[in-house]
Amino acid sequence: MIDIAALVDPGAGRVSRQVFVDEEIYRLELDRIFAKSWLVVAHESQLRSPGDYVTTTMGEDPVLVVRRADGSLGAYLNSCRHRGMKVCRADSGNGSVFTCTYHGWAYGNDGKLKGVPMEQAAYNNELDRSQWGLVPVAHIDTYKGLVFATWDPDAVPLLDHLGGMTFYLDALLDRRPGGTELIGGVQKWRLEGNWKLAAEQFTSDNYHAPFSHASAITVLTADVARDRPRLGHTDGAQASFPQGHGTGFAIGETPDDKFPGRGFPPILCEYYEQHWEEMVERLGEARVQGPIVGHANLFPNFGYLPGIGTLRVWHPRGPNAIEVHSWTLVDSAAPPEVKEAQRRFTTLTFGPAGIFEQDDAENWAEIQQGMRGSIGSRVDFNYQMGMGHERFDDPRYPGRIGWYASEQAARGFYARYLELMEG
Ligand code: FES
Ligand code: FE
Repeated sequence: MIDIAALVDPGAGRVSRQVFVDEEIYRLELDRIFAKSWLVVAHESQLRSPGDYVTTTMGEDPVLVVRRADGSLGAYLNSCRHRGMKVCRADSGNGSVFTCTYHGWAYGNDGKLKGVPMEQAAYNNELDRSQWGLVPVAHIDTYKGLVFATWDPDAVPLLDHLGGMTFYLDALLDRRPGGTELIGGVQKWRLEGNWKLAAEQFTSDNYHAPFSHASAITVLTADVARDRPRLGHTDGAQASFPQGHGTGFAIGETPDDKFPGRGFPPILCEYYEQHWEEMVERLGEARVQGPIVGHANLFPNFGYLPGIGTLRVWHPRGPNAIEVHSWTLVDSAAPPEVKEAQRRFTTLTFGPAGIFEQDDAENWAEIQQGMRGSIGSRVDFNYQMGMGHERFDDPRYPGRIGWYASEQAARGFYARYLELMEG
């Protein structure tokens, strides 16, 4: 019996490396975190028409997400009820029937088993097809375009799970009329590293950016520093919530120092400037001045960078690997040239070969390699930055607040982790 509380102590700012390498703990995470939490499975712009579908995973479970004929959303275990072959092997598409490629059982996008080869001759017409449909998720719901699902019949409503984080999420999803859409398809790649290294970084870690990404930042800001010096910033905040979500962002210092996206291509800076007042009207000054650009993670494994425009799910693949699925998100109301500039900028910075992404990937891989040994797998990580200096009373920003170089949101992430892991 594993004593998780002995390994994870957010109150003391201490987490054992065991939880990043241990196979048994990983199996528990699949059961107690990934089979219990609301997980992002799609964006509605991928599922506009009846018959549209995408495939993904929830934890390690393959999942098929569909827009049904009646317009409702559904999600099922992407696994044939006969012997478990995936019934849909494509990333995305449109269709009304999913025919298993092993023996040919066919399912509708309502999940029902519609056809079985040789049903009369082989099964003597005795197979009760109504009992052998695809396994559905317990709940599926959306928040401003993001599609979430959970296997847990007793899950709290999605809005309760998101809690105060919607304040920050809206700075990504609700900046302009018409909401957002994904462009350019999904990019998938595999990383060495435990899924929590990525999730906690997007939750809480602004601290690494000036060091890990020094060369990328130098490249991006060389022209900007000369031409647009007012886009600098030195202040910022971090917010976290009991559900485990966290975010951090810079805050413009003066009214002129509006958009904190230092180093963004001029076309994107101009886009923000043009729509500044409109965004302030929708979201308020504080939200547009800060969380509109930053880092964030919805517990457990949905990371995103407002401003950069990357969304990604950190799919766990054993304790030592992550399969990243990543997309570019744009305002639907943005003109085509701005959307294209966003797609290129997102790919340049956080695509699989992105100049920032590679820095992070290398860190996570080398950390994971350093935990393979007997000693390296047992010592603790330190999460004490900003401990004892959290606040709950910032009139501008909801949540538990720290300075933007803090690990209070990581402590929040592991507090939630511990709560779920203890069952
Ligand atoms: Fe699908 Fe046999 S595994 S029909
Ligand atoms: Fe990074």
